[in-house]
Parts: sequence; C-alpha cells; structure tokens
Amino acid sequence: MEGRVVVVTGGAGGIGAAVCRGLAAGNASVAAVDLDAGGLDSLVRDAKGTGGGSVTAYVTDVTAGGVAEAVLGQVESELGPVGALVNVAGVLRRGPAALCSLEDWSALFAVNATAVFLWSAAAARRMAGRPGASIVTVASNAVGVPRVGMAAYAASKAAAAAFTLGLGLEAAAHGVRCNVVCPGSTDTPMLAAMGPNAAAGAVAGDAAAFRAGIPLGRLAAPQDVADAVVFLLSEQARHITMHSLYVDGGAALRG
Ligand SMILES: NC(=O)c1ccc[n+]([C@@H]2O[C@H](COP(=O)([O-])OP(=O)(O)OC[C@H]3O[C@@H](n4cnc5c(N)ncnc54)[C@H](O)[C@@H]3O)[C@@H](O)[C@H]2O)c1
Repeated sequence: MEGRVVVVTGGAGGIGAAVCRGLAAGNASVAAVDLDAGGLDSLVRDAKGTGGGSVTAYVTDVTAGGVAEAVLGQVESELGPVGALVNVAGVLRRGPAALCSLEDWSALFAVNATAVFLWSAAAARRMAGRPGASIVTVASNAVGVPRVGMAAYAASKAAAAAFTLGLGLEAAAHGVRCNVVCPGSTDTPMLAAMGPNAAAGAVAGDAAAFRAGIPLGRLAAPQDVADAVVFLLSEQARHITMHSLYVDGGAALRG
C-alpha cells in the first residue's frame, strides 16, 4: 500500500474506518468519503501518528449525481492519481419483502447499488492502465443466502456485487482488478442499530428466521424431481446450460 492513493467510501463507519486505518498503517494516502463529518474528523485525528500514511476527509453524499467524478478529481489534485477504490458506504433497512415501501427500496438502492456503480465506473475510467489498480466492493453474505426481513437489502447488495464483477471482466484488459467482499454480521454501528439483542441473536442463530428445514413444508415427491429433469431435457430449456436447478422446496436457501 506504500504511497498508494486509496478512496474509501463509508470511511467513517465501522468497517470503513477499520479499512482506512489499516490502509494508513500500510503507508497509503487514504481519501475517506462519508456523509458523517464528525465521524470523519475523529477518524482523521485517530489515524494521525499510526504510520507513514495519512487519512484525508471528504464529506460527501455518495449518491449525488456527478459527485464521484468531482471528488475523484479533487482527490487526484490533492493526493495524486487514485490507485484503488473501496466501496463500503451502505445503509440497512429491514422488513417483510412484500411490505417494502418504494421509499425504502429506493434508499437502499441509491447507496448500496447506484453509488457503487457511479464510483466504480468513474474510478475504473481513471485507473485504466495504472499499475496495481483495484476496486473492492463490500457487499454482504445476504447476497448468497436469503434472510428473513432482508430481501430488499440483499437485492441492492446483489446488484452491487454483480456490477462489480461485470466491471471486473471488462476492466481486466486495462489491468484493473475488481473484487467483492461479503461480510457476515459484524460489530459496527449498523449492527447496533438493529437493536440491543441483534449481536447475541446473530451469534446464537434463529432457526425460524433462517427457515431451516423445507420452507415449502413438504418432502419432494419423485414426480417433482422428474418434472425438473424432463424440463431440462426438453426444447423449452433450449437456452439453459451450466445451471444447477434446486428442487428442494427452498431447503438449500439458495437459487
Ligand atoms: N455490520 C454488518 O453486520 C454488515 C454485514 C454485512 C455487510 N455490511 C456492509 O458493510 C458496509 C459497512 O457497514 P458498517 O457495518 O460499517 O456500517 P456503518 O453504518 O457503521 O457504516 C456505514 C457508513 O456509510 C456511510 N454512508 C451511508 N450513506 C451514505 C451516503 N449516502 N454517502 C456517504 N456515506 C454514506 C455512513 O455515514 C456510515 O459511516 C455496508 O455496506 C454494509 O451494508 C455490514
């Protein structure tokens, strides 16, 4: 990380601040981007003297149009060419999928998905051809496994993850690596905001919430499996290949 300029969105949050501190300890010049001016202030204060690197605060709403370009330009003029981007900014709103309001859905997608697109695309354009160029998006383990009350959040994170991987396929030709980190429950303000029992509940697990067993409530009949086999053999499946079709009433908790 020596001497590299790394932009971290959500830098004032629990995971973002840890990323910033780690990068600064490795002698990077970190541009910490967040809405939370007070959080950024204390991050900058704490990071002083922890190594040869630095943390500079950029108080910014990552969802605002045109802002990614403008802030990346400002970072480049103040700290030097950007070598990496870490998308950590995120919000969580929970509730039953069928009752999710358009307002909640839009708020989740604005930060968790659209901002990842805006910042990653802008960074990839700038970083093309720069040695060691890299983007990491912090998504969630909810991307891979359905969670009760988290459908809209998971959808926003899945969008971010898919965009990051697709960008990675194209940007590889320009030497830009793109990866996704999917954390599980992590001890941060986001988890604390889920209530006093959230941490203990996450550790202990909740069989009902995870729908252990068979969510559709019955064993498969041989005919259920046979129907899927026949479908895959048929002309109706002419464009389906390399696919694993789970016929398990939802038991595997995955698609
Ligand atoms: N904590 C967990 O259990 C957990 C689990 C899986 C994934 N994640 C993901 O990890 C990332 C970091 O989460 P955290 O736990 O550190 O949460 P956090 O709430 O501590 O940090 C999130 C940060 O994002 C910032 N942010 C939110 N909206 C913003 C906006 N519009 N513009 C700029 N900054 C904005 C917040 O101010 C905050 O500092 C998030 O993307 C979250 O979804 C967290």
